[in-house]
Amino acid sequence: MKQKKADILIPNSHLPNYHTPVLLQECLDGLNISPGGIYVDCTFGGGGHSKAILQHLNANGKLIVFDQDEDARKNLPTGQAGLPDDERVIFVPQNFRHLQRFLRLHKAEKVDGILADLGVSSHQFDEAARGFSIRFDAALDMRMDQRQAITAADVLKNFSETQLHKMFEQYGEVTNSKTLAKTIVLQRALAPIRTINEFKNAVHAVVKGNPQKYFAQVFQALRIEVNDELGALKELLQQTVSVLKPGGRVAVITFHSLEDRIVKNFFRDGTFEDTAIDDVYGHRFENPLKVITKKPITAVEKELKENTRSRSAKLRVVAMK
Ligand SMILES: C[S@@+](CC[C@H](N)C(=O)[O-])C[C@H]1O[C@@H](n2cnc3c(N)ncnc32)[C@H](O)[C@@H]1O
Repeated sequence: MKQKKADILIPNSHLPNYHTPVLLQECLDGLNISPGGIYVDCTFGGGGHSKAILQHLNANGKLIVFDQDEDARKNLPTGQAGLPDDERVIFVPQNFRHLQRFLRLHKAEKVDGILADLGVSSHQFDEAARGFSIRFDAALDMRMDQRQAITAADVLKNFSETQLHKMFEQYGEVTNSKTLAKTIVLQRALAPIRTINEFKNAVHAVVKGNPQKYFAQVFQALRIEVNDELGALKELLQQTVSVLKPGGRVAVITFHSLEDRIVKNFFRDGTFEDTAIDDVYGHRFENPLKVITKKPITAVEKELKENTRSRSAKLRVVAMK
């Protein structure tokens, strides 16, 4: 019997070690997939979550995938020997903060489910030249979208002492963020800070506690700033309520408390506005979202053992009323 296209198992086309998806089954359960529905994977990466979603979609289903990193394109599912690429998939090489605009462009104004697995992929982290990891020496880049102008080196060069202080404090919870900011400003006047090693040398005297942990927090702050990760997340969440069909689902995986707080509060309120204020007609805002996960879902023992990245992952799900 001729196999229907949607019944064909998508080959694992993504490169080995690009990224291992976290909370995979939990995301599928959360999305509650209708086989003929339209789904969005906002963070395609290695395509692990997308591949699993596709396996639950029939020939009428559609999957629109976003990734601002061109590298992700090579993980798009290709057809098995001789078959064309999977026609149910549309790749949007853009920031997910433009969700609604690109859904309109692809004639998918309303969708059944949206997934966002935030942060960087293992590939981005392990690729020395991308500048995300303290394990290597490379240019201080940290851009997920290489078309973007501002790199981490630009932030360290151009931010004022106060801006640096606030960034390290808010995005990295770095204990001595004020001293760190002051040191950077003093050191950059003596010599440029363009690479990871130049940065480590410039600030080595003020490193507190375990250097691994300290630099991990400092790098997290820089990465969040360079990619405006929290701004993009807020814009994405705001648009979900306009593009979801009734009963449609949003599932978001976060990896640190700043992101999780934003998602939790938005899911609870359905807006970032002050909900205690009535509109000009005296109407109170009503949350169009219903929280499905009262508590965030975290990885089970087995996954925690197999994938260290899953340790800090938290999944929250809502449904459109
Ligand atoms: C954690 S990985 C996703 C992994 C994916 N779920 C998988 O199974 O392989 C996050 C991906 O989302 C992308 N990304 C992060 N923030 C983004 C944004 N604001 N817009 C578009 N892509 C983004 C990153 O470039 C990265 O490839």
